[in-house]
Amino acid sequence: MRILSGIQPSGALHLGNYFGMMRPAIELQELGEAFYFIADYHSMTSLFDPAERRQNSLDVALDFLACGLDPKKSVFFKQSDVPEVCELTWLLGTLTPMGLLERCHSFKDKSAKGLPVNFGLFAYPVLMAADILIYDSNIVPVGQDQKQHVEVARDIAIKFNEVYGQTFVIPEPKIRGEVAKVPGTDGEKMSKSYGNTIEIFGDEKVLRKKIMGIKMDSRTPQEPKPDAEQNLAIQILKLVAPPAVAKDFQDRLRAGGLGYGDLKKALFEHYWNYFAEARKKRADLVSNLDYVNKVLADGAAKARAKAQEVLQRARKASGLE
Ligand code: ADP
Ligand code: TRP
Repeated sequence: MRILSGIQPSGALHLGNYFGMMRPAIELQELGEAFYFIADYHSMTSLFDPAERRQNSLDVALDFLACGLDPKKSVFFKQSDVPEVCELTWLLGTLTPMGLLERCHSFKDKSAKGLPVNFGLFAYPVLMAADILIYDSNIVPVGQDQKQHVEVARDIAIKFNEVYGQTFVIPEPKIRGEVAKVPGTDGEKMSKSYGNTIEIFGDEKVLRKKIMGIKMDSRTPQEPKPDAEQNLAIQILKLVAPPAVAKDFQDRLRAGGLGYGDLKKALFEHYWNYFAEARKKRADLVSNLDYVNKVLADGAAKARAKAQEVLQRARKASGLE
């Protein structure tokens, strides 16, 4: 069974990325042959600074390895080290109805806001379909917001198989219900584009400030809070603290007497401890970049061999060969 997922190097990774995508991906590497990649081609649709792309790509590699991606179990690589995926994007694009892409939120949201949209952004889901189909992927672990794109990949694969004969494996999205959508400091979905993120790694002071800035209401500490379960700090605490601890805080908040400041201080401590080991591992990796680059180069070689095999199958099926 092949498991595959990608993450864009578009900024520092945050708790939404970690709980929505990275942790499930890391757990799944025990279950089958996993391919994980840094989606640098995708980042070109919205990031136009080469130095930033280079730095972000390295940061994603460091973050993912520090968080437990094991290169002995998973194939880890940079998307653009497998340029075959661009050729497959063309083959798939010619079978993709315009209407399907017009409905995709990656394009629709930006064009509805009047933001400039380019061909790359419009074609984004086709490139993503090529990423998935070129490795014969069965399972694609992603957060809720990427479900639509995996469905597009399924639609395109089904169409290609109908038109040109059985060629592609039909992939399934895998979305973890309990962490489908991690809230940000303002209560919206945590996202790099909303400026409401809590990063996995970074400066302690800055991160403490972000956590202390999580939006709360103006009720006094003494007031009972029957809606304690919806409290943002409680929701995030449930991800980083043992269940009994999170429940205890939730009960105290519900009963009244627990101030928001104290709750947020506790949240910071649990969050900081949760990533302590990963932080140490990341520091080791930073001083051993040759190792990181070797992991990516080995991953690219393995991924590329598989991609070439599947691309050739598609070229033959469609009469290019
Ligand atoms: P962002 O919204 O910050 O730009 P990306 O779109 O790069 O994040 O998402 C990378 C991966 O992380 C995707 O699989 C996505 O579904 C997941 N993800 C991002 N934000 C969240 C969130 N708040 N909750 C759960 N999963 C998320
Ligand atoms: N579009 C995904 C995101 O922004 C990243 C991605 C690119 C991806 N190709 C993929 C995810 C293939 C899963 C499978 O999060």
